[in-house]
Formats: sequence, C-alpha cells, structure tokens
Amino acid sequence: MLYKKFLKPILFSLDAETAHGLVVGSLKTIDQIPFLKNFLSQQFSFFHPALESSILDMRFKNPVGLAAGFDKNCELLNSLACFGFGFIEGGTVTASPQAGNPKPRIFRLKKEEALINCLGFNNLGAEKVRDHLKKRANPKIPIGINIGKSKKTALEEAAKDYLFSFEKLYPFANYFTVNVSSPNTPRLRELQNDLLPLLSKLQEKNQELSNLTKQNLKPLFVKIAPDLSIPDLEQISGICIKAKIAGIIAANTTVTREGIENVPTLEGGLSGKPLQTKSTQMVRHLYKMIGKELAIIGVGGIFSAEDAYRKIKAGASLVQIYTGWVYQGPCLLKQINQGLVSLLEKDGFKNIQEAVGVEA
Ligand SMILES: Cc1cc2nc3c(=O)[nH]c(=O)nc-3n(C[C@H](O)[C@H](O)[C@H](O)COP(=O)(O)O)c2cc1C
Repeated sequence: MLYKKFLKPILFSLDAETAHGLVVGSLKTIDQIPFLKNFLSQQFSFFHPALESSILDMRFKNPVGLAAGFDKNCELLNSLACFGFGFIEGGTVTASPQAGNPKPRIFRLKKEEALINCLGFNNLGAEKVRDHLKKRANPKIPIGINIGKSKKTALEEAAKDYLFSFEKLYPFANYFTVNVSSPNTPRLRELQNDLLPLLSKLQEKNQELSNLTKQNLKPLFVKIAPDLSIPDLEQISGICIKAKIAGIIAANTTVTREGIENVPTLEGGLSGKPLQTKSTQMVRHLYKMIGKELAIIGVGGIFSAEDAYRKIKAGASLVQIYTGWVYQGPCLLKQINQGLVSLLEKDGFKNIQEAVGVEA
C-alpha cells in the first residue's frame, strides 16, 4: 500500500536505472542497521511449514527467490534477505570488471507491466565481488551466484572466463548458475548450441575444488533463453543430464516483443508480464522431458501467488521474480507466500513439493 501510493510514484518518475541506484543505496544503508533489518524481516517475511522444502541439500523456507540481475555485485544479500525471499541469486558476475552498455539501458513498459533492459553485464568483476562476499555476506538463506562471460573475451575462450569466476566465488555460493542466455552480450546465446565442453570443464573444476575444500560438489544450474525451440530444449536437456547438471532456470529475458502493443525500437531483453505464459510453457516442456532427473527453477512474469503456483504446478520446484518486485513492491513476497499456502490447502496438498509438476 505504502509502496504503491508513495514510493512507487517517486521511483517511477525517475529514469529506471536511477531509481534502481536509489534502492541499492537504501539497501546498503539498511545493511548497517541491525534493528532495521529485524524490523523489515518481521514486516515482510512469512513462514509456514507447507512452504518449506529441501532441494539438492539446500533448505528453503519458501520457494520464491530473487532472480539474477538485481544485485549484480552481491553486495545487498543481507538486506535483501529481510524482504522474505526463500533464496537470492546474485550476479551476473564476469571474470573482468565491465561498465556495460551506454545509458539509458533500462526502460519501463508500464502498460504491459514489463521492462526492457540492455545492461550488458555491468559488474565489478569476480575479484571485487569475492571481496564483498568475504566482508559482509551472511544472509542465512541459500545464495546462488550467476556467472557469465566478459564481453572482451572471445566466445572460443568463454570457458576460461567462467572458470575464473567459478573458482573465485566458489566458497560463497550454495549453487552456481551458468548464464548462457543474456541477450545483451554479443554471441553469448550461441553457447547454448554447444554446451557440453563448457559444462564438463566447470564440473571438472567443481570436483577439484570440492576435493580441495572438502565440501560437497556445488549444484550447477544452467539458465536458458525463452526463445529456444522445443528441439533446442531437448538437446540442452540431454546435455545437462550428461554433464550432471543439477537443474535448469527457465528463463532469461526474451528478444521477442510478443504481447507489446506499440513496440518501441529498443534493443534488449524483455521481462515481466509478457514473458509469463511463454516461460511457464517452457517449464512444462522441461518437466515432461527431465523433471525426474533435474530441478527446474521457473522465472518470468510472476506478479502474484497464482502466477507462482502455475509455474510450480507446471514443474518448477522453485521460482524467481524480478520485474514483479519492481512493479508490486516489497510486500509481494509475503502476498505470494500467504497466497501459496491458501492455494495448496485448497488443492489438498500438505507441502509445496507435492504440487510440483501436477499439471505438466
Ligand atoms: C534490469 C534487469 C537486469 C537483469 N540482469 C540479469 C543478469 O545479470 N543475469 C541474468 O541471468 N538475468 C538477468 N535478468 C533476467 C532476470 O533474472 C529474469 O530471468 C527475467 O527478468 C524474467 O523474470 P521477471 O519477468 O520476473 O523479471 C535481468 C532482468 C532485468 C529486468
């Protein structure tokens, strides 16, 4: 209520990236004030045993996470954790620091409740991000770190880049996401056509680091584009199984403009409501193909409990949100989680895991 009446009109009167910067600044301040973090947790979190699950040795208090891209440098994890997320994915982090594409590069499509971004992996690079994580991160919920390829690195050298970030950030993540689907790094999506060499190298390094640190292997997820065809999905799923990948995140932003009335001439990835149906269909296809072997994280256009539940029933064990949080504000997590409990009760499920895939 407070967000929609007061904060959102102010934030939405500003350029989208300026607004994001203001929010980032506030979250950094919140991180310094312990009693404020406790207060926010009480206000925005919702706990219920029906929402708890254990997936790949990670314990989730609820199935709704923050998608990659909001906290590119993994410096807001503690304060973001106060807003009721079940898990948070930081990044995308690249081996080299990079400024990203020229501004402006985030645009709101208010009527469609969507965003278009062409940020281009702006981040401080794996070494600086590791310093942030070393100094402060203690968020008490599972943390994923999403890694990508630096723009200056040739596609043929991509594995080196991913391996560098993976190694630097290894101790700090509960799981890693291999991002091969951002539309804003030239040729990145081509990696989806030949994934096995990259994934095998990462798994080799995973084994080596796991032996060295005496920790379990880190679950690796692959984040894919919503613009893939069904044969592409089949091929990628087969490769993920072969490479012993833990799961697939469907999906990143789309380069199509379906569902947009007056298509703006903007390059970049579209997120939010127009992506909802497409990403849910993708989750359903994936679940039918690999639901028994791999976990699926559903992301794209979730704005309500019903939206999240649809993805869970299509086959997602976990879901993530980004654009919905921007439009609906900080109460969204509590609303979704409370709503999920009611929907589970209505359908006679005792726990969220029982609902996964029932409509695939
Ligand atoms: C401004 C913005 C930046 C993003 N940056 C990243 C990123 O760095 N890495 C990534 O994997 N996905 C990124 N995404 C994609 C989201 O993680 C998510 O997959 C997509 O937005 C669909 O979810 P949504 O409709 O809930 O926003 C970004 C999305 C937005 C809107």
